[in-house]
Amino acid sequence: MGIFFDDANRLFFIETPGTSMCLALADEEGFLCNAYYGAAVGRDDLRYLLGGKNNPAVPSRNDRDRGCYFDKTRLEFPSGGTGDYRNPVICVRDAGGHDSSLFTYVSHRIYEGKEEISAEMTDGRKVRMPAAFPGKAGAQTLRIVLEEKVLGLRAYLSYSVFDDSDAILKSVRLTNESDTTVILDKLLSSNLDLDLSCFENHEPDIVTLSGSWARERRMDRRRISRGNSEVYSTRGESSHQFQPFMALCENGADDSKGRIYAQTLIWSGNFVCGAGMDQFETVRSYIGISPEHFTWDLKPGESFQSPEAVLVFTEKGFDGMSHIFHDLFRGHLIRSPYLYSERPILINNWEATYFDFNTDKLLDIARDAKKCGIEMLVMDDGWFGKRDDDNSSLGDWVVNEKKLPGGIERLSGELEKMGMKFGIWFEPEMVSPDSDLYRAHPDWAISSPGRVPTRIRNQYVLDITRSEVRDHVYECVAKILRSAKISYVKWDMNRQLSDLGSTGLDASSMGRLSYLYTLGVYDLQERLLEEFPDLLLENCSGGGARYDAGMLFYSPQIWCSDDTDAYERLTIQAGTEMIYPLSTMGAHVSASPNHISGRVMPFDVRGAVALSGTFGYELDITAIPDAERESIPEQVAIYHSVGDIVREGDYYRIARVSDIELYDAWMSVTKDKKRALLTYVQCKGSPRTGKRVIRLKGLDPDMMYSLKLIGSDDENSRFCSHGKKHDWKILAPEGAVSGKSLMNAGLMLPVLWGEYGQMMFEIRQV
Ligand code: DGJ
Repeated sequence: MGIFFDDANRLFFIETPGTSMCLALADEEGFLCNAYYGAAVGRDDLRYLLGGKNNPAVPSRNDRDRGCYFDKTRLEFPSGGTGDYRNPVICVRDAGGHDSSLFTYVSHRIYEGKEEISAEMTDGRKVRMPAAFPGKAGAQTLRIVLEEKVLGLRAYLSYSVFDDSDAILKSVRLTNESDTTVILDKLLSSNLDLDLSCFENHEPDIVTLSGSWARERRMDRRRISRGNSEVYSTRGESSHQFQPFMALCENGADDSKGRIYAQTLIWSGNFVCGAGMDQFETVRSYIGISPEHFTWDLKPGESFQSPEAVLVFTEKGFDGMSHIFHDLFRGHLIRSPYLYSERPILINNWEATYFDFNTDKLLDIARDAKKCGIEMLVMDDGWFGKRDDDNSSLGDWVVNEKKLPGGIERLSGELEKMGMKFGIWFEPEMVSPDSDLYRAHPDWAISSPGRVPTRIRNQYVLDITRSEVRDHVYECVAKILRSAKISYVKWDMNRQLSDLGSTGLDASSMGRLSYLYTLGVYDLQERLLEEFPDLLLENCSGGGARYDAGMLFYSPQIWCSDDTDAYERLTIQAGTEMIYPLSTMGAHVSASPNHISGRVMPFDVRGAVALSGTFGYELDITAIPDAERESIPEQVAIYHSVGDIVREGDYYRIARVSDIELYDAWMSVTKDKKRALLTYVQCKGSPRTGKRVIRLKGLDPDMMYSLKLIGSDDENSRFCSHGKKHDWKILAPEGAVSGKSLMNAGLMLPVLWGEYGQMMFEIRQV
């Protein structure tokens, strides 16, 4: 594996342990084409896959029908206006307004390692962009230089691979080497043209994750069609509505099998991700920054850097795809020292008190929490300014002494005496119209002249593209963190961008605002981690509106959704886990009936679902029923005993409640396959069916295992009918059982009494 150039045939081979991508320099003019991407192949002359040497495949000898070539060929860097009528990767205009372009090969370089990528703010400050890094693995990069001769532009395309990953990382930097300004209206990070024959039955499906607030990342699956199918965000965040992710898969693909081409973007702002089929049954898929609300006056000598795209191919279904993403993000993207270590079990006061709290109430919660083994109190929204609801004070990061007499120093001091860690909530990017900050600096809010900006949650967005605003925001957060012992920050963002306008940008650079805003967020979080390297940072955006690979570069965990209802969470978490490691998924046990859905759910089921994420509590522990409080220490003990399997293991999906209604089940299996955790959640009772067979996954067929039911005091207590206990047992072989029996014959689980129930099994090699 690695990256090779076949000089004689002008072919690049980009190889990972299990896949190959073959790029060809076609024609004398050197058009960069994708000859092949998929399971590993030899370094053979694959140029025939581009359609041979017949017209119109030789554009330099076919002046009559050059357009046919561009419209038909699998191009790596398709541009607009010169004969390819499909979706272009780049749209650029010259000073006269002409918008055609055509890029051809100049040179290339293959080198060991992988460089960081960065971009410049308007004040000249360089911001490192989130991107995968080699870590302990060997890495190789191919840099191909293409040029647009008429406009004097150069595109530097980067392809990197790591020797322990089946992902390919792609990005592009465009430089204006002419002496006139050009207008860049679009530059995507990746284009992938595939022949339909890559998919069994020639009928691929498109899989995306979509939703809304409190309904994030639900799997959507539909047949590909002619014309494009797109997901996108123009909200200045990756969004509740769509994920920067798309998988193209054979229609027979499922969790365990099938060919899948997937892509995501290491970016937290506007994006577009799409795919469609053309007249010749080529599938074109693409991902990058959305061209909506984006234009860039690229002055002579200036460059534009795209975010990094991640391409994944697997023949092992969605589980195989998830393994590649999870391992890439854990091994090559998340930098936090907490990545694999046990995170402190936290209790957050948001759903316990909302804005109505004071030091005494927080200490009462902390005291009871401590007794149960919880390790950290997180003080959520409402501790600053005069904020008693969400109508004021964002921007005034001064402690409300009426609620917290003695300030944060006293509260954190009391917690420390108790042996509890302390965490705090911020929403640094925002300002309330009713705040001292806004009254002093109304021009610091993003807004368009002559227009009262649209309020969302009664707040505006601070213009962190301006360095003085960014510096102020940073100092507000850092000052508080310097003032007390604070172990954790929840960084929230509760509205989208609108009314795009910045007093710091002139007309020629206004179209950069959304891009620079995202860089501003990265700059702030990078500075924070530089000054407070031990800080545990959890990103959040009104739940999960900024749950993306970009934010994982800064925080090892992200609040998954404001919907903490364990039933709803099954679907939200199943979607999230398709891309992101379970260790990143903020998941808490909350009160029942649930505050968002009103659903009543047993405490053990709430625990089982939260235990497959970062795990914590979000309830008034002083007010819940005694029986629930008394079962917290056991949940805490489970977290301590199996949390490492969830954080470090491979994830396998067994059943999705969104497909089968009756139950949901998944597993985490350690890399050495010696330990595993199986979580089964019953979502519907079904009288007289009696049993359900669950076939396990990911174990070593030849290892012998023991199974232990955890998190249920009395194994029989839930297996009743007519309100009476039965002596039904979990039907599994007594004693040790082989991996192959567990995976092929499976476990026979009884149907539990009532609607919702759970069973968790710790599985160990014996
Ligand atoms: C949205 C978050 O997702 C919640 O957990 C909470 O922190 C609120 N914001 C506070 O305003």
